[in-house]
Amino acid sequence: KRLILVGPPGCGKGTQSPLIKDEFCLCHLATGDMLRAAVAAKTPLGIKAKEAMDKGELVSDDLVVGIIDEAMKKTSCQKGFILDGFPRTVVQAQKLDEMLAKQGAKIDKVLNFAIDDAILEERITGRWIHPSSGRSYHTKFAPPKTPGVDDVTGEPLIQRKDDTAAVLKSRLEAFHVIEYYTKKGIVANLHAEKPPKEVTAEVQKVLS
Ligand code: AP5
Ligand code: ZN
Repeated sequence: KRLILVGPPGCGKGTQSPLIKDEFCLCHLATGDMLRAAVAAKTPLGIKAKEAMDKGELVSDDLVVGIIDEAMKKTSCQKGFILDGFPRTVVQAQKLDEMLAKQGAKIDKVLNFAIDDAILEERITGRWIHPSSGRSYHTKFAPPKTPGVDDVTGEPLIQRKDDTAAVLKSRLEAFHVIEYYTKKGIVANLHAEKPPKEVTAEVQKVLS
């Protein structure tokens, strides 16, 4: 399966990805996670991306398309992949189609995490992540066993610094991407405001 997860910051893409990934043996390619890793490692790419990311703005299409292209070549995603946070623009979506067409492949399903703006802010402000795995927790909705510590590795959790004001803008972006895939008839709408387990159940239903 080749899947795309679309939705505004805080809608739950990063929360659902590990679950879908394990169940269907897919690889998880999250441009946000890859970019944060590049910023932390101060690679040339990270240095270029940092300013836009700190402001919650989009990094350039060329940069993210390059990252995805490389990640797809490097990882052997035999059973398919989940793209989390990519494509974010119609240009990115077109480039992705071109990349896949070269391999005779195409996207099977686009999961649209539809959600009300009011819920998003609380989710984002309570979020703590484990940077190296991308696992996310929430002080209220998904607390770790020990506050500030990753359940699996015991390593410290951190908070992200992007601005919550970016939420509204990215909703507009998501709209254009959804429109692009709606024309292809492969969009499935989820009720992303529901508790994590219920969202997972919806995803399973769509994919089975
Ligand atoms: P990215 O990392 O992709 O961030 P995002 O889209 O802003 O999405 P988030 O990671 O904020 O939200 P999420 O949906 O994963 O939510 P989560 O599951 O963590 O991108 C970051 C930046 O990188 C961008 O701003 C941009 O600068 C750059 N970038 C990335 N991709 C790009 C691209 N393609 N083009 C250009 N630039 C790009 O959940 C949030 C919180 O809520 C967590 O604490 C979680 O525990 C909790 N939660 C989750 N689900 C539920 C639920 N059902 N009920 C209650 N709580 C829940
Ligand atoms: Zn995420």
